[in-house]
Amino acid sequence: MIILGIESSCDETAAAVIEDGRRLRSSVVASQVEVHHRYGGVVPELASRKHVEMILPVVLEAQAKAGIQPADIDALAVTQGPGLVGSLLVGFSFAKGYAFGLGIPWVGVNHLEGHIHSAFLDPEPPEFPFVALLVSGGHTALYHVTSFTSAELMGQTRDDAAGEAYDKVAKVMGLGYPGGAVIDRLAAGGDPSRVPFKRPFLDKNGFDFSFSGIKSAVNRFVQSHPDELADLVPHIAAGFQEAVVDVLTHKLVAAARARDCNRIALVGGVAANRRLRERVRTDGAANDMLVTIPPLEFCGDNAAMIAAVGYRYLEQGIRGALGDDVYSRNRQ
Ligand code: KG4
Ligand code: ZN
Repeated sequence: MIILGIESSCDETAAAVIEDGRRLRSSVVASQVEVHHRYGGVVPELASRKHVEMILPVVLEAQAKAGIQPADIDALAVTQGPGLVGSLLVGFSFAKGYAFGLGIPWVGVNHLEGHIHSAFLDPEPPEFPFVALLVSGGHTALYHVTSFTSAELMGQTRDDAAGEAYDKVAKVMGLGYPGGAVIDRLAAGGDPSRVPFKRPFLDKNGFDFSFSGIKSAVNRFVQSHPDELADLVPHIAAGFQEAVVDVLTHKLVAAARARDCNRIALVGGVAANRRLRERVRTDGAANDMLVTIPPLEFCGDNAAMIAAVGYRYLEQGIRGALGDDVYSRNRQ
């Protein structure tokens, strides 16, 4: 069964072709970073317009790379929410129209479920059950995943998402947008003990997280050290990153222990972070846990993960209807 997946929830226009739920035939991601860079964050209206421009070329490229014609597609899967409504509408409306024109079924997919499913795109996918830490620009949450279509939310951030904290911290240090990857790189050359930060929620509040306090602490430190800033940036980046990674890793392992589960997965845009990948692997191994961290191309927003989820729902006979709408806030 050949599924075309489409993703347009934020600032990436993406399309992918997946065969039988797991075999990747193509995955194309058009990033809008250069559009939003100068504004220091995603500008929703500009994002929608760019999606309109890119959706068709991206879909055509995904089909060409997969070596398929439109007539070879059996079904479509498209992100329905959560995300920016204007952005979601572009991919969602395109998918409805395309499926209607081709006379094939389609299904709307939850973006967060998509990220969780990126674990199944790994060459060694996890077995059920496993505990997944989803860390992205919009979400930070822990799930106990028991089947392809069911997961229990164990905890989540009470304020900022981890990726959002990375982006905001990068911004106050003048490192541009998006800042996660820049901090990752700079932190490698810094000493985390030079500018240490408190580990928010480390041993409290169950499996919930909080990142707005550490973001403010970095901001205060930056404002109070204007003269030494140039020299301190790598150390601040390292100190901030070490605190965030410590909390994320600690809670992931603790959540798996709480469910008597020895399998963990790390997914979402921040799962591209080198230090976080390293810590989850070493702490997981130290606790006799099997660790799945998908390849980088499936960590950030992509359509392969959307097609992978869509396959499981379509398999169960679930279909979208022309009257369905997108949703901006999460619903499970
Ligand atoms: O999953 P994603 O592509 O989009 C959302 O669904 O939010 O995640 C984007 C987030 C951004 O906040 C970005 O700064 C962060 O992932 N990110 C990183 C790294 N690469 C991307 N954060 C830390 N280290 C990285 N290497
Ligand atoms: Zn995402």
